[in-house]
Amino acid sequence: MPEPRGSRQRTDTCGALRRGDAGREVVLLGWVDSVRDHGGLLFADIRDRYGVTQAVFNPESAPEAFGAAKALRPEYVVAVQGRALLRAPGNVNSALPTGEIEVQAARLEVLNVSETLPFPLSDEAGVAEEVRLRHRYLDLRRPRLQRILEVRHRVLLAARRYLDGHSFLEVETPILTRSTPEGSREYLVPSRVNPGRFYSLPQSPQIFKQLLMVAGCDRYFQIAKCFRDEDLRADRQPEFTQIDIEISFPEVQALCTLIEGLMEEIFRAAGQRLQGPYPRLTFREALDRFGTDKPDTRFGAEIRDLTGALAASPLRVFADTARQGGAIKALLVPGGGAWSRQRIDNLVDAARGLGSKGLIWIKSTGGTVQSSVLKHLTEEGCRAVLRDLQADPDDLALLVADRWKRACEILGALRLQIARSEKWIDDNGHRLLWVHEFPLFEHSEEEGRLVSCHHPFTSPHPDDADRLETSPEEVRALAYDLVLNGMEVGGGSIRIHRSDLQSRVFRVLGIGREEAESKFGFLLTALGMGAPPHGGIALGVDRILAILTRCASIRDVIAFPKTTSGIDLMTGAPSSVSERQLRDLSIRVEVGEPRRAPVE
Ligand code: AMO
Repeated sequence: MPEPRGSRQRTDTCGALRRGDAGREVVLLGWVDSVRDHGGLLFADIRDRYGVTQAVFNPESAPEAFGAAKALRPEYVVAVQGRALLRAPGNVNSALPTGEIEVQAARLEVLNVSETLPFPLSDEAGVAEEVRLRHRYLDLRRPRLQRILEVRHRVLLAARRYLDGHSFLEVETPILTRSTPEGSREYLVPSRVNPGRFYSLPQSPQIFKQLLMVAGCDRYFQIAKCFRDEDLRADRQPEFTQIDIEISFPEVQALCTLIEGLMEEIFRAAGQRLQGPYPRLTFREALDRFGTDKPDTRFGAEIRDLTGALAASPLRVFADTARQGGAIKALLVPGGGAWSRQRIDNLVDAARGLGSKGLIWIKSTGGTVQSSVLKHLTEEGCRAVLRDLQADPDDLALLVADRWKRACEILGALRLQIARSEKWIDDNGHRLLWVHEFPLFEHSEEEGRLVSCHHPFTSPHPDDADRLETSPEEVRALAYDLVLNGMEVGGGSIRIHRSDLQSRVFRVLGIGREEAESKFGFLLTALGMGAPPHGGIALGVDRILAILTRCASIRDVIAFPKTTSGIDLMTGAPSSVSERQLRDLSIRVEVGEPRRAPVE
């Protein structure tokens, strides 16, 4: 028999032992998952990242270890030395990969004790997220979160390998930098040695990756941390991770194919399969058919257009909308004909909540027409609409007449809401698609001016470039989004690589020569020094992982996330700082006492 090694030197992980290991002397190190007393024997499940193994303490064969085991409590950290033995057939636990063996403990060493935990690690559903986040290190001990961390690691590793295999160079870009206009507020970092001056944390490495193309890098990528001070939601964190990519001499089709290959590789790394074809929809088509620029095509129920068919309708709202250049959009809800009036009224309320002036509905169940506009449209008019839509007898037709975009968006939101409540979505099927030809600019009501839909470095569509100054809102962008299961998981564009065009776009955005010079002079200068045509994309790692691991929030796939109010409940960040620190940074806080971070 080989001499057993020291009791602290691990021979196997807690997930490793199998039938064939029976008879071996082993040392396991890990956490006590549970302890049970059965007829004089003590059983302890020892857990680590790799799994759970049962250790048995016998008062006769190992009285000392048995005595020590009596003091064991959950989450004690232990070293167990003993022999792996086959379990008696009746005691095999087929739910565990290690379930055919157990370790007959000869020695037990308690490496550390543990206080009673604030929540049991086994009971996830019953524990408030706030409590879990406050003790994230315990939360992360759960097998589910350990698996997520592992999937994340595998995905990033696969991405690195794939991109390396396609001649990409990983380059780190600065975290302490200058404003990048990605559309969100920035986090600022005061400079001590330059009083009154601030760095900003990058919303993305956008400008640097473009400069790397000017530098001749040709193919760049980075697993990049990005920072955005925006309102947080389930799919947004103030700091998040992108797989950031840029290539020189881009060809859109080739770039899309490269990214599709990367996504397939990422899915493979997570033990799943993603398969094309990956449709490409224009922004207009996505809104027309799905009412959103991130369509979920895992189910049908496409939106239809009835503007032409109803332009001469006796119903004024239809005729007026058509005359004023708006749209009449319709959605058929299969089986909705049987819905109660209350349920339909709830939909009408939901539509109002989405900004709709109204939601018209029509159904013809058992041959009787019912509709919110029966009086004005008449029974025959209602039947004609149902005929136009090729409705089945048990369908419910929902119609919105409004400005084109709003009509699409309202029905798009209802389409999703109904799909969720009616369980139309096949959770096992993944649908990846591209949306392109976004508008280059949109009007921001908040700022009262044109803003970039993507960012100001996006190239206008070459066919529209001559309309930049005359009708900027009609100019399409050479931009594309990657959409997975209805979630935007990536966004990119072909960039402007000539400084004259870049200056024109700045002007349309109301960024004057001086401002452009002071904020982006370095970029304009660089573009004037042999910038190659270039373009790229950034993939939202956290969102992709949330989909791969079926998590409702990206908080679950980030090791140490922040709450929706941007707070790290464990460390208490953001925190107040001492007067001295503020003085060093030449900062005076004028808004009374620094606020204590609110707890969610
Ligand atoms: P964009 O702003 O579209 O593009 O971001 C790219 C992708 O990053 C993810 N994402 C986020 N994920 C979590 N939390 C957030 N707050 C958050 N914000 C964005 C999304 C999104 O599709 N520089 C450009 C890329 C380029 O043009 O190459 C950019 O950052 O999945």
